[in-house]
Amino acid sequence: MSESGDKLGKLLGNLTPTTALVLGSGLGGLVDEVEGAVRIPYAELPGFPRSGVTGHAGQLVAGRLSGTPVLMLAGRAHYYEHGDAAAMRPALQTLAEIGVTKLILTNAAGSLEPGMGPGSVMLITDHINFSGANPLIGEPTERRFVGLTEAYDRAISAAIEKAAAATGAPLFKGIYMWFSGPSFETPAEIRMARVLGANAVGMSTVPEVILARFLGLRVAACSVITNLAAGMTGAELSHQETKDMAPLGGARLAAILRRMFAEGVE
Ligand code: HPA
Repeated sequence: MSESGDKLGKLLGNLTPTTALVLGSGLGGLVDEVEGAVRIPYAELPGFPRSGVTGHAGQLVAGRLSGTPVLMLAGRAHYYEHGDAAAMRPALQTLAEIGVTKLILTNAAGSLEPGMGPGSVMLITDHINFSGANPLIGEPTERRFVGLTEAYDRAISAAIEKAAAATGAPLFKGIYMWFSGPSFETPAEIRMARVLGANAVGMSTVPEVILARFLGLRVAACSVITNLAAGMTGAELSHQETKDMAPLGGARLAAILRRMFAEGVE
């Protein structure tokens, strides 16, 4: 057990969440809905990231959402901050140590589909790692050869779809392509991404999916669409736009997740 696992286990006491959420842009407000919240700044958990990106506070919040025990990571480390694709490994490892078995990742992303505009929510069904990076580079054991044929868990994804249908929120499904960032893509890169089969592009999540599968966690992921991707509208992209637009889809995704937790996640 890591020092963080030990510490977190003691802080949680009788609460034993088996599901964790990583909150991307636009979903940070979900921590305020946690009942009986225990809040722990990442700074108090050795190995947890020090995120410097605005719109990404660093704290772990545990409690109940719609009655179900849950653990939320508000704030993530991005590869583009330091070039370390494995920066989330200690945090995810800690979750696994304290009994988390299911991980739901959320992010903000650019859409490649004109019909999936800002405010849309996309369930990620598969990904394309276009960054050239991998969080398992340097892992010395043979466990590094992680299979990703079924990286995204069918049962959790189905529960998200069911919850979306129940809330009436439209839910797109598609493939997320990971670009390293921090610069946005060029229009030519976006045309390439579309040819390669992507439906959305973003700068996070994929390394966490790889790490989670490595750690034996079941994973599902959703994107909140903040913009049509580069070259699709003629407008320049900006982080400010991401922050401004994320709450729109974030509210929809929050409603879906609330509903899913009300039903319980198997
Ligand atoms: N590209 C990459 N990452 C993003 C985008 C985008 O257009 N929008 C939000 N995150």
